[in-house]
Amino acid sequence: MPIFAAPELYMKNYKRHTITAALPYANGPVHIGHLAGCYLPADIYARYMRSIGEDVVYVCGSDENGVAITLKAMQEGLTPQELVDKYHGMIKKAFEDFGISFDIYSRTSSPEHHQTASDFFKVLYDKGVFTKKVSKQYYDVKFKQFLADRYIFGECPNCHYPNAYGDQCENCGTSLDPTDLINPKSRLSGEQPEIRETEHWYLPLQKYEEWLKGWILDGHSEWKANVLGQCRSWLMQGLHERSITRDMNWGVPVPLPGAEGKVLYVWLDAPIGYITATKQWAAAQNKDWKLYWQDEDTRLIHFIGKDNIVFHCIIFPVMLKAHGEFILPDNVPANEFLNIEGEKVSTSRNWAVWLHEYLVDFPGKQDVLRYVLCSNAPETKDNDFLWKDFQAKNNNELAAIVGNLVNRVLVLTHNYYQGHTPPRGETGDAERFLTDEIEDYPSRIGTLAQEFKFREALTELMNLARLGNKYLTDGEPWKTIKTHPEYAGTVLNYSLQLLANFAILSEPFLPGTSAKLKHILKMGVTGWNDAGNMDMIAEGTLIGEPVILFEKIDDETIEKQVLKLQNSKKQLQTVLETDKEAEKTDFIPFKDNITFDDFSKLDLRIGTIEAAEKVKDADKLLKLLVDLGSEKRTVVSGIALSFSAEEVVGKQVCLVANLEPRKIKGILSQGMILMTEDENKKLVFVNPDGIVPAGQGVS
Ligand code: 2FM
Ligand code: ZN
Repeated sequence: MPIFAAPELYMKNYKRHTITAALPYANGPVHIGHLAGCYLPADIYARYMRSIGEDVVYVCGSDENGVAITLKAMQEGLTPQELVDKYHGMIKKAFEDFGISFDIYSRTSSPEHHQTASDFFKVLYDKGVFTKKVSKQYYDVKFKQFLADRYIFGECPNCHYPNAYGDQCENCGTSLDPTDLINPKSRLSGEQPEIRETEHWYLPLQKYEEWLKGWILDGHSEWKANVLGQCRSWLMQGLHERSITRDMNWGVPVPLPGAEGKVLYVWLDAPIGYITATKQWAAAQNKDWKLYWQDEDTRLIHFIGKDNIVFHCIIFPVMLKAHGEFILPDNVPANEFLNIEGEKVSTSRNWAVWLHEYLVDFPGKQDVLRYVLCSNAPETKDNDFLWKDFQAKNNNELAAIVGNLVNRVLVLTHNYYQGHTPPRGETGDAERFLTDEIEDYPSRIGTLAQEFKFREALTELMNLARLGNKYLTDGEPWKTIKTHPEYAGTVLNYSLQLLANFAILSEPFLPGTSAKLKHILKMGVTGWNDAGNMDMIAEGTLIGEPVILFEKIDDETIEKQVLKLQNSKKQLQTVLETDKEAEKTDFIPFKDNITFDDFSKLDLRIGTIEAAEKVKDADKLLKLLVDLGSEKRTVVSGIALSFSAEEVVGKQVCLVANLEPRKIKGILSQGMILMTEDENKKLVFVNPDGIVPAGQGVS
């Protein structure tokens, strides 16, 4: 039992804590919305719990099953396994880079997970929990496959958008059933699917409605208002049975005879992934996983984003309850969404700040992002990430308050005491006040963290740094060193003690900064309960050299980031316009065969871009001079939203050299440059694998 625990939360004396963070789909990299919504608050909580000495396991992993994966694999021309291997690695690395302290980061395509999910399903099946039903679904005759909703597209019956998904129209937002679509097509073959009967298993949620009402609405009225609100609305609308299997060949196979070609619905197996991860972690640590999932003295907390509330507050608890051997979540502190510069994050449209890109642009500044995302976390409502605000929080808070305090104290200690912690002389009201305040900070910050109020907790942490600045400024050691040198020593000693407290209490929020400070102050291994006093650094301790913990970020750097976002938006508009014009779909049907003679009519050449300039009054166009060895060609290319003129000079490109020349914006364009798009719809050049002489033919 920690000393500073908030009593109301610890009425039940928990022995251990299982903390889960939603498994991200391994179909793309992670962005700041992921971090702010789920992984950062969970990390702060887990780090805090460990620091107060609790027994904690913090688990996560990649969600590698389901249609989101198979569709993306198809788009990238990879097998589902290749796709999840690629993104699992990227996601895992991004989390590590940002100090997200999972005890294990697992994955749901592993054999261990298949076994755990399969066993779980079997227990529920054997208990007669599921019902079985025949339904009618679309079937792709050519690919011999039933089609999940996202595999079907067609015209929206509401707004007539030609490329609506089987479950939703992205254009008007209407929720659809695949059979509602006008002129439905399969994304696999591009052909009209036919309706066939298929059999699936269902989880009858309605049977658990009364139990859920009692458990959530009466038993957990302390849950966050946004979470309770959603639960109440689901429960009041009435629950229905949910199908929990799918006709697919990627995922956890339904472990029943005669169920070939069927897998568990991804939302059934994903939360079981938390259990798999815990099992794997426990095996490696020589611990008993069951204690973390089946012992009433364990507190289970799910950190998620708001789109996952129904699964973690209704469906998964029903599964755990129906199984009978598992504990239920004690809290599900879901966050709302983080928008960027006033708009919803959209991964497909590249309206996002990707973690791996942030680290390239702001190397070593992980704590800055952690700070900004926590101080602006969407804890109670959707919030906005603004680059200007990021800059202000770095410059006016981290640098001006924390960095400045640390630097001043270290410089003065080195200037007056050759870096040794000075002895304390006389003390007065200021020191008594500071000591009282410091005593109170661990529980002040800790209580807020236990209540999942991480923004407020961070504000209190910054107040501690503010207190330090005020004390140092009022104490004026730079003056008293001449008039009352003993008191100057007192002020610097107390200031160093305050920094040591800050080093401990900042660890859950700013782990990198905390580690640096602990190193400078020679603190060794410490936990939360070591803080709260002014006797942490012994007199005479030689402390490290002064450092700049946070550099200021200039306007130009911020403008570049805003521009990067705006450019991706312009590109999106171009893509949408082109899509609309051509009524293009994600699925590009293969064209009819051509003969070799047809092919050999194309004169494809490798050229080198020798010069480039923007075309006046056309923000999408660049005028390029391409060197083809024997001659130079002028080509007008619609790539200006993706590339600046400077960055394309010197690039080798593949040119259709015998395309009929045509005038674009008054310039005669003599050929066409071949381009493709990456997964974020950003244009990329099609060019040779190595440097080849200009003018080389392509065959
Ligand atoms: O919404 C998502 O990204 C899901 N992959 C979350 C799964 S959480 C849990 F159930 F595993
Ligand atoms: Zn529509």
